[in-house]
Amino acid sequence: MIDFETFASRFRARPWLLSAAALLSLSAGGCGQNGQPALEAVRSAQDVVEAETGMVVSAYPDASEIGTEVLRAGGNAVDAAIATGFALAVTHPTAGNIGGGGFMVIRFPDGRTTALDFREKAPLAAHPEMFLDESGEYSAQVHHYSHLAVGVPGTVAGFAHAHESYGSAEWRDLVDPAVGLARDGFVVRERLARSLERMLPRFETYPTTHAQFSKDGSPYQPGDTLVQADLGATLERIRDEGRAGFYAGTTARLLAEEMERGGGAITEEDLARYQAQERAPVTGTYRGFDVISMPPPSSGGTALVEMLNVLEGWDVAAMGHNSPEHAHHLVEVMRRAFRDRATYLADPDFADVPVERLTSKEYAAELRAVVEAGQAGASSPEDVSAAAVAPESAETTHYSVVDGDGMAVSVTYTLEAGYGSMITVPGAGFLLNNEMGDFNARPGLTTETGLIGTEPNLARPEQRMLSSMTPTILARDGALVAVVGSPGGRTIINTVLQIVVNTVDFEMAPAQAVASRRLHHQWLPNVVRLEERYMSAEDAAVLEEMGHAIDWRSSQGIAHCIFVDPATGALVGVPDPRDSDGTAAGY
Ligand code: DON
Repeated sequence: MIDFETFASRFRARPWLLSAAALLSLSAGGCGQNGQPALEAVRSAQDVVEAETGMVVSAYPDASEIGTEVLRAGGNAVDAAIATGFALAVTHPTAGNIGGGGFMVIRFPDGRTTALDFREKAPLAAHPEMFLDESGEYSAQVHHYSHLAVGVPGTVAGFAHAHESYGSAEWRDLVDPAVGLARDGFVVRERLARSLERMLPRFETYPTTHAQFSKDGSPYQPGDTLVQADLGATLERIRDEGRAGFYAGTTARLLAEEMERGGGAITEEDLARYQAQERAPVTGTYRGFDVISMPPPSSGGTALVEMLNVLEGWDVAAMGHNSPEHAHHLVEVMRRAFRDRATYLADPDFADVPVERLTSKEYAAELRAVVEAGQAGASSPEDVSAAAVAPESAETTHYSVVDGDGMAVSVTYTLEAGYGSMITVPGAGFLLNNEMGDFNARPGLTTETGLIGTEPNLARPEQRMLSSMTPTILARDGALVAVVGSPGGRTIINTVLQIVVNTVDFEMAPAQAVASRRLHHQWLPNVVRLEERYMSAEDAAVLEEMGHAIDWRSSQGIAHCIFVDPATGALVGVPDPRDSDGTAAGY
């Protein structure tokens, strides 16, 4: 058994060299901080990597290495992010994509920032009641798993925009490695093999998907080579023609044909009209740190800054990490930010979103006063009783990139559910998203289980669906501090929040800030979801006495992050130990 104080002092002495794996296994079975049970390895973990010049941390080794090769060859962080993203579209089919969408936050070496929105959008034929069945009832199947659940993909347009505006390498050199991975194949690792095996029965509905992700109907085994010839051909068109290789010609035709065949709504016109949007990031400050994150149509940055502003008025460190008091305060800010998310947040091109007010210190002071005025520890009276929390899967992916000039890129992109709609475009080899499920179900349908029917985020022609993805960058005194983000649906915002709090309030070293257990509350249902071993049973009982219904979950988020050692300037890549394939590559 490791004495935590001894362990912690060793950790403090050489924090940058301690891996998340070591952190988890050293503390397994030992006593944790503040009387909490010790952490133990959740998955087999990857080592933290320290590098001098450039770094990529992503969900698959080949993708991180391809991104790092781009940096070594003189490309900048945007170039590496594009190459990593295309590689993940081949090696990480659960979330890596060209048939989905996402967000990219960039901080340039001189401190300027920007945000790229390549979120999917609704096709021209969309309307708020499109997810009802023939009898006029809301249908979760139509909303989440049908051709109507597919949004107009944004990833290729986003990468093309990023490259035109900020890239420095040749476009074809960024796509070509992914062409190779698809055409020649890549080695299936254990996690992917298990995931594909689990999914195979569900893929039977979609013969193209079943064929692409099985060996003549049998599951791939770890060590097998997975070749995706049709995907390779599509990537070649993208390599040779840029965005037109996806949004026009053969690829667009094949996609539109599949939509027509399956009763979907996306047409070649929808594809031709898709444009990525460059937006001003949402920014805030937290105890002297600058927070740069994604604006609407993601709710992520706005909710993150709103919550940090409220927390800033309290001495969070004094509460004790993951203590009942700490958890209570996190829950109270989360429930309010998520209520505001449901009330106000949506595509800013369609709704008037009061980002400035929600992210202001004045508004935070009002919320703080409400929390403080509550009975000691009680949940807010306006909230409904506990109900079952639908588990949020981790089927999105976040990756972080920093180059030798200090340019930082934070990307979270997704197909929404794992393997999205599970529809592969025949002849084009890529999976389509089911992102339309992120629109509200139907006007007025708000339930205790978490369905939200508020007006701003209803499906309308060409509107972008509200997201929780929170690619974020932290800086301080003009210097880069960290690149952070995670998958996990609505839990994403809270995962990022806790990594920031761990870093700023608890001064944790990177590996610990990422490995530490997390919690989640999203207003409705009124349940706090604690990651396994978040706190002891005794502390959980105290939290329950404070009025919080508790639900335990095995895992929350996969945050592949990069930190900068403030003393040396070295880059510290921390793949989240919850993902055995997460890999930091640097030089
Ligand atoms: O954009 C979003 O917030 C979601 N579509 C992300 C989905 C996710 O992280 C995985 N599952 N719930």
